[in-house]
Amino acid sequence: MKKVTVSAPGKLMLLGEHAVVYNRPCLVTAVDQRMYLTAELLEAEEFQLNAPDVQVENYKKKIKDIGKGEIPKGAKFIEIAIRNFSEKYPIRGGLRITTKSEFSSSFGFGSSSASTVCIIKALSELFDLGLSKKEIFDIAYKTVLDVQRKGSGFDIAAAVYGGTLYFLTGGKAIEPLSIKSLPLIVGYSGIKADTVTLIDKVKKEFSNKPEELDSIYNSITVFVEKAKDSIRDKNWKSLGDLMNNNQSLLKKLGVSIEKLDNMIQSSISAGGYGAKLSGAGGGDCMIAICSDEKKEKVEKAIEEVGGEILKVQANAEGVRVEK
Ligand code: PMV
Repeated sequence: MKKVTVSAPGKLMLLGEHAVVYNRPCLVTAVDQRMYLTAELLEAEEFQLNAPDVQVENYKKKIKDIGKGEIPKGAKFIEIAIRNFSEKYPIRGGLRITTKSEFSSSFGFGSSSASTVCIIKALSELFDLGLSKKEIFDIAYKTVLDVQRKGSGFDIAAAVYGGTLYFLTGGKAIEPLSIKSLPLIVGYSGIKADTVTLIDKVKKEFSNKPEELDSIYNSITVFVEKAKDSIRDKNWKSLGDLMNNNQSLLKKLGVSIEKLDNMIQSSISAGGYGAKLSGAGGGDCMIAICSDEKKEKVEKAIEEVGGEILKVQANAEGVRVEK
């Protein structure tokens, strides 16, 4: 029976997290560690899933029950994505799906989004639909909202389009920045963060200070707009300054933690142009921007305060068919 393997990249938020949930822009880059998904058509009308990276093994149910009943955590995004796809395009027969990730789901690289994008792309291939990037984005983003109720969709856009993007909430703007590379250093804090918990934390803490929150988000927007130009001009010094400014506001939002602060401070003291947390905060990764000459020194400084350097390249290719 027909079979296809596709892959999609992980992502890192460059600037604009949290603000982007509330109708503001952000900058995101795709990283060269990928999620792989193989999908095979079956004659029997059965759905089978193996996703060992998220502890799902030999999970099976009838295709007609897809998206219904108790769904294991690790199967949710894929199952709801198939349901959303099948509401638009009929699925004939059954499906056997296997996923394998090159990165840990603890890094905050967006493993759920990457696998959601992979399954939609794979179904588009299996049923010869030739869905456009925007069509894949729309079904995948609906899936994220169905599963976790919140989110801007920036991670979905990175998995679909790849590269480095200027992105506006819900995909109202998805603008690729044509650059060749980005001198990024990535440090993992070793602490797993939960995106929805952090979005809720910010909302709660500012519930009686809406003007203050609005003003923080407006300032972040200014930094994002300027950083877009800095990236285009390869002005890494200016990008570093803007990342530092963004980090101060993330601290005001209350989403940074001591471990990340230490990693960020050390990278700047070691000669980095600038650094900030990347994503929801509360853990996951920090990013620093620095010159080639300072790279080793900055990496060492991050390790000295307990961070783990993740060797990834930014600006990676979006979802693609492997074979
Ligand atoms: O936790 P991450 O790395 O998926 O980043 C979340 C970024 C937020 O802006 C807080 C949420 C979102 O969907 O944009």
